[in-house]
Amino acid sequence: METAARTAPASVIVAIDGPAGTGKSSTSKAVAAKLGLGYLDTGAQYRAITWWMLTNGIDVDDVTAVADASAKPVIVSGTDPAAPTITVDGLDAAGPIRSQEVTAAVSAVSAVPEVRALITDLQRSIAAEAPHGIVVEGRDIGITVLPDADLKVFLTASPEARAARRNGELKGKEAVDLAATREALIKRDAADSSRKTSPLAKADDAVEVDTTDLTLDQVIECVVTLIEGVSAEKAGRVTR
Ligand code: DC
Repeated sequence: METAARTAPASVIVAIDGPAGTGKSSTSKAVAAKLGLGYLDTGAQYRAITWWMLTNGIDVDDVTAVADASAKPVIVSGTDPAAPTITVDGLDAAGPIRSQEVTAAVSAVSAVPEVRALITDLQRSIAAEAPHGIVVEGRDIGITVLPDADLKVFLTASPEARAARRNGELKGKEAVDLAATREALIKRDAADSSRKTSPLAKADDAVEVDTTDLTLDQVIECVVTLIEGVSAEKAGRVTR
């Protein structure tokens, strides 16, 4: 990955939300690396707690059981965009959290209010401690987790484009079928958008970027330019 070729003039907190397969992770990581910011993948944290529930025999459809167990796992996220890490109780969880089993269960676990409250607190403390600012990607960052973020971006793309990108990421790891990926994405979006606590939604003050016909480099450039704009504005306000 490219190292910080440009530097944001002031420390900024950036929220990048949107459904699966819109290029959130690739964009957020690259943008953070270019501008010398930290990077937090909040989906990985929900996947990590889901993985812990599955490996500890908790029925993920039993809301009370998930809520009661939610404070047990210790989840630690490393925020270097060049090498982000995630551990659960000290174990590297980066591989297992991408399994189809975790993907199928994560919407149920992440809909439990106790889980969201704990993970939201964790996300806020990570963002507050980021020395040079941070890019935080997820579903509810702009509205719930960091409503005072300096910049909010909401990425979208057609279901076809999203399914094709997701399949590209999975290839070689698990058997993939485009129609099945598309259906699974649509089902997960519906669950994430309709849950009662912090559903996937665009903040009123977020900049929406439709990535369907854009290359990854174009999306990265677009978000870098937006960040440089808010960062320069912030630096001006501080020195004035
Ligand atoms: O970004 P992802 O596909 O790895 O996210 C996995 C799941 O985690 C997603 O289906 C919904 C949930 N999630 C959430 O509820 N809130 C977030 N801020 C991030 C992810």
